[in-house]
Amino acid sequence: HVAPVVKAISGSNVSLQIPERLPDDYTKLTWLYTAQQKIVEWSPDKPMNPKYFDSKFKGRVTLDPQSGALNISNTQKDDSSTFRIKMLNASGVAQTWNILLQVFDPVRKPVIKIETIRQENNNCYMKLSCAIPDQSPDQCVNCTCTWLEDSGPLPKECLSSALELNVLVPQNYSMFYTCLVSNPVSSESDTVYFTPPCTLSRSSSSGVNWIASWLIVMVPTILGLLFT
Ligand SMILES: *[C@@H]1O[C@H](CO)[C@@H](O)[C@H](O)[C@H]1NC(C)=O
Ligand SMILES: *[C@@H]1O[C@H](CO)[C@@H](O)[C@H](O)[C@H]1NC(C)=O
Ligand SMILES: *[C@@H]1O[C@H](CO)[C@@H](O)[C@H](O)[C@H]1NC(C)=O
Repeated sequence: HVAPVVKAISGSNVSLQIPERLPDDYTKLTWLYTAQQKIVEWSPDKPMNPKYFDSKFKGRVTLDPQSGALNISNTQKDDSSTFRIKMLNASGVAQTWNILLQVFDPVRKPVIKIETIRQENNNCYMKLSCAIPDQSPDQCVNCTCTWLEDSGPLPKECLSSALELNVLVPQNYSMFYTCLVSNPVSSESDTVYFTPPCTLSRSSSSGVNWIASWLIVMVPTILGLLFT
């Protein structure tokens, strides 16, 4: 099989579920990480259960005796690993499953900077950059950045290069330009609003709620496209 992948945000609690239902009469269940280090062992018929081993998870894990799920609290990036479950059934036959846990730090909020804006006849020329304060683009690990306007995402990377737009007013401007930074578990954005013929501002008197609902609809779709 392909091992299930569980993605978690650092600092959160996560529950790793056994991919199949356990038989009622199993005799032993063991959770391991990196496939070798024991975390916890559970024998339904023995007292003094479950037994937690000295691992980096000690004190942060609990075993759910009903489902056999492993609950990890306060996940850290270096908890990312392959977890293995070994189950011994009543006739002494072992079965194993693997689960991949990936823990990511949340992305930090980007800030749009208006580098240039000027009106040229019927056009408005704009140059926008987007950066995460105190973070270079390559420090944003496992993240992608997308420019959005009211018709959808623009085919331009954000953190590494500036966005140059030459819009024809009134035909084809967007009411807003958003820089959206995402990783598999979180996203943050910054938005500037356009007013014809050639003004950008940080707040919009009319469109805010509409844009917010647009983002709520679009972001999961965009993330789905980026991270599958
Ligand atoms: C995570 O689990 C710990 C320990 O079980 C608990 O104290 C804490 O409230 C939980 N945090 C969240 C965000 O659920
Ligand atoms: C996250 O980034 C690291 C280092 O760049 C890479 O090895 C890993 O495959 C990435 N993980 C995901 C889920 O994209
Ligand atoms: C506006 O229209 C011009 C010409 O059709 C096109 O090159 C440009 O990409 C459009 N800009 C926007 C923001 O849609």
